[in-house]
Amino acid sequence: MSYTIWNAGELDLDAVMRLLHDRVEWLRNRGSDQWSTYSRWRPEMKASIARRETWLMRDGSTNEPVGTITMSTEGDPEFWTTAERQQPALYLAKLATSVQCRGQNLGRLLLDFSLYHAAATGRHEVRMDVWRTATDLHAYYVRQGWRHIRTVELPHRYSGALFSRRVVPPVINTPPAGLEVRPAGGASTPQAGRGTRRRGAIRASVVRQLSAQHTGSKCGTKFELLPTMIAVTTGRLRSVRTWKPSVPVSS
Ligand SMILES: CC(C)(COP(=O)(O)OP(=O)(O)OC[C@H]1O[C@@H](n2cnc3c(N)ncnc32)[C@H](O)[C@@H]1OP(=O)(O)O)[C@@H](O)C(=O)NCCC(=O)NCCS
Repeated sequence: MSYTIWNAGELDLDAVMRLLHDRVEWLRNRGSDQWSTYSRWRPEMKASIARRETWLMRDGSTNEPVGTITMSTEGDPEFWTTAERQQPALYLAKLATSVQCRGQNLGRLLLDFSLYHAAATGRHEVRMDVWRTATDLHAYYVRQGWRHIRTVELPHRYSGALFSRRVVPPVINTPPAGLEVRPAGGASTPQAGRGTRRRGAIRASVVRQLSAQHTGSKCGTKFELLPTMIAVTTGRLRSVRTWKPSVPVSS
């Protein structure tokens, strides 16, 4: 399997929100109260996308959105000390993979991408504050090599379990295997004309609808959809050609 990742653009907001929404539903079905703040996220995510902090990962074959991650260089002052915030670190938020793709280690791919992105932008550590009561999630991060720093308990905040990971070789040199960063290095954003991007989005939505009818398949290639996928690829190639370089995500 191969995946692509790029800065989400304004037309990707729905795809990002859909991934987050589906995971909120998944959490509720498990009896978890995590992300009870979801109802106010749409404007937050819109702003993150405008700041080019949100990334969208797609399946390289089907173009389906399969994961999202938001990365910023500003630590939350309620959680991180002034000294910590002066260090060059990257802060993660809103990490989610497609519910249909769970069990395929896509979370690991996004976490590895954050390490690569941190290194590429001169950050020595990647940090996140995690929902305090989500102890299974804490265990997941520890299994992925993250270190629990401390837990900050504030009555008006639900997160505060602080985790971090140092950026060390060999992760710093290349994007994780199987993940193509577009454009290379992640320092630019797709800037295609609205029409071109919209055509791509419509085709992607057709694929999504058809995929939904294809019961039994998860993230894999759907052979019945080959003509549509070729259309998506053609649309994407057109989009790629019209990308313009933009400012780096962070320095
Ligand atoms: C965390 C996440 C990105 C990992 O992606 P992934 O590689 O596709 O991993 P999976 O969904 O297969 O989950 C891996 C394991 O972590 C557990 N897990 C994941 N998120 C969890 C959560 N929020 N609370 C409790 N357990 C969680 C899963 O149950 C699974 O456990 P298992 O291996 O015992 O079955 C993804 O599980 C996700 O989107 N979770 C919900 C949203 C979330 O909590 N994001 C992190 C916010 S800091």
